Amino acid sequence: MRQLFPPRDGFLADEALDRAYGDEPADFVRVNFVASADGAATLDGRAGGLGSATDQQVLRLLRDRADGILVGAGTAMAESYRALRDDPVRAAARTARGLSRVPPLILVSQRLSVDPSEPIIAKAVARTVIVTCAGSDLERREALAAVTPVIVAGEETVDLRLARTALAERGLRRLVCEGGPTLLGTALAAGIVDELCLTVSPMLAGPGAGRIVDGHLVIDPVRLRLRHLLEDDGFLFLRYALAPS
Ligand SMILES: NC(=O)c1ccc[n+]([C@@H]2O[C@H](COP(=O)([O-])OP(=O)(O)OC[C@H]3O[C@@H](n4cnc5c(N)ncnc54)[C@H](OP(=O)(O)O)[C@@H]3O)[C@@H](O)[C@H]2O)c1
Repeated sequence: MRQLFPPRDGFLADEALDRAYGDEPADFVRVNFVASADGAATLDGRAGGLGSATDQQVLRLLRDRADGILVGAGTAMAESYRALRDDPVRAAARTARGLSRVPPLILVSQRLSVDPSEPIIAKAVARTVIVTCAGSDLERREALAAVTPVIVAGEETVDLRLARTALAERGLRRLVCEGGPTLLGTALAAGIVDELCLTVSPMLAGPGAGRIVDGHLVIDPVRLRLRHLLEDDGFLFLRYALAPS
């Protein structure tokens, strides 16, 4: 891995790579996405084909500095999300920062189609937090609440500002959001995003796939400030700060 901006000589070893993503404040929402050079957020319906081993390394590194991993129900389903296991290497990195051994998944859903018996709930070491809204199905919500924490924020859809406050009250203040595009659209509209980490894959995906921001909400263009640009095997790793709204 090389650091192109700010300019820095030499190869970025693991420790320096880790430091490159450091210094975030205690209350922080970081978003992590990958896109092709022509802006596609998926290849054959998934993000995985766009990434690389180093992209996965960055994903793990960002998870290692988060209190929780925020993800939309669409992504959890498309990417077959599982709750994280207790991995001693990851746990050591996390506890050295004063974080819990395993970060919980925070699943955002209005329809609540996830079943309490599914591994993402039932097998979670750190209990998965469900974030939903008052308009969700009461029976489903109660069934989930019997086995895992459920936060109700907003009426017809999840109000991510309220959700962020409720998560902070549970000690989940530093979040990494892994998408997907609908959730990112909602998060941008709510003004809760502090940083975007974007991997640009050296690939043209062709027409068809959506972009990293989607949904029906109207969002004013958001100005980004480049914090760093890293390169590995043609993959670009951009770290952008969002201008405060
Ligand atoms: N390129 C990348 O880095 C990347 C990252 C992540 C995902 N993806 C791709 O993106 C695709 C999925 O896209 P998507 O837009 O459907 O993903 P998504 O944002 O993860 O899922 C959308 C779903 O999340 C829930 N949701 C999001 N915001 C909500 C809100 N404010 N209130 C209530 N519910 C809310 C709803 O779930 P319910 O339907 O349950 O109500 C909604 O249908 C997949 O193909 C995945 O592979 C790509």
